[in-house]
Amino acid sequence: MITVKDILQKKREKKKITALTAYDYPFAKILDEAGIDIILVGDSLGNVILGYENTLPVSMDEMIHHAKAVSKAAKNALLIGDMPFMSYQASQNRCMENAGRFIKEAGVKAVKLEGGKSVAEKIETLNGVGIPVMGHVGLTPQSIHKFGGYKVQGKDKISVEQILKDAEAIEKAGAFSIVLEGIPYTLAKKITEALSIPTIGIGAGPYCDGQILVTHDLLGMSGEFKPKFVRRYAETGKDILKAVTEYKDDVQHGSFPSIEESYKKTVGHLKVLK
Ligand code: KIV
Repeated sequence: MITVKDILQKKREKKKITALTAYDYPFAKILDEAGIDIILVGDSLGNVILGYENTLPVSMDEMIHHAKAVSKAAKNALLIGDMPFMSYQASQNRCMENAGRFIKEAGVKAVKLEGGKSVAEKIETLNGVGIPVMGHVGLTPQSIHKFGGYKVQGKDKISVEQILKDAEAIEKAGAFSIVLEGIPYTLAKKITEALSIPTIGIGAGPYCDGQILVTHDLLGMSGEFKPKFVRRYAETGKDILKAVTEYKDDVQHGSFPSIEESYKKTVGHLKVLK
């Protein structure tokens, strides 16, 4: 069973950390079997699974519901629950209560929250009650309205300095790792070198201590959505469409089920049937 200590150790040993998202039992089981280090129940649940336009409407109850299922399959990976929008921003108490729910009800081992300096105090508080925290800076999807959309961050001097300061504040507050999303690889490299906690990149280039992707993106299950930073390792969406279409045709033409795919022996009163 991988712990936060193992994740920190990996950075010291210069071993890359692997992370992926999961939202249900069967996917989590496969990720765990493949030996992925970290499984994140991301609030990307909103766009990937629940059909929302973005992550903002996702509720704590929805996150817990899915994290419970993932938790049953994550036997080896470090399981992290993503705190959804407004589950931690409003107050320290709300933050503690919701992080506590993740641990108690869903069995996650750590939580992730977005933001820099502004959430540092919350990270300290959670640490204080024994809840490990993963930070998340750069293109933080819960702030899309502030950014004016999904725009790469850290492209000018002020933004670079802000992101660097935020990452340092998160480390100082006691986070055990930090997601760097949607920033130039040069900035991600600088942050990775400056911090002693591991950086986990998504759209942040090759110099982070680890990588995370939304599993459905790498499997080709996100339709036409294919940003530059995603490498598709399969075209599962197309394979499923092909399989389901063939099934539909077979049923419509009467070739499924065949006699070979049917029960033959009759028992008891069924013998009367010819
Ligand atoms: O919600 C999510 O899936 C995430 C990761 C992609 C980092 O925050």
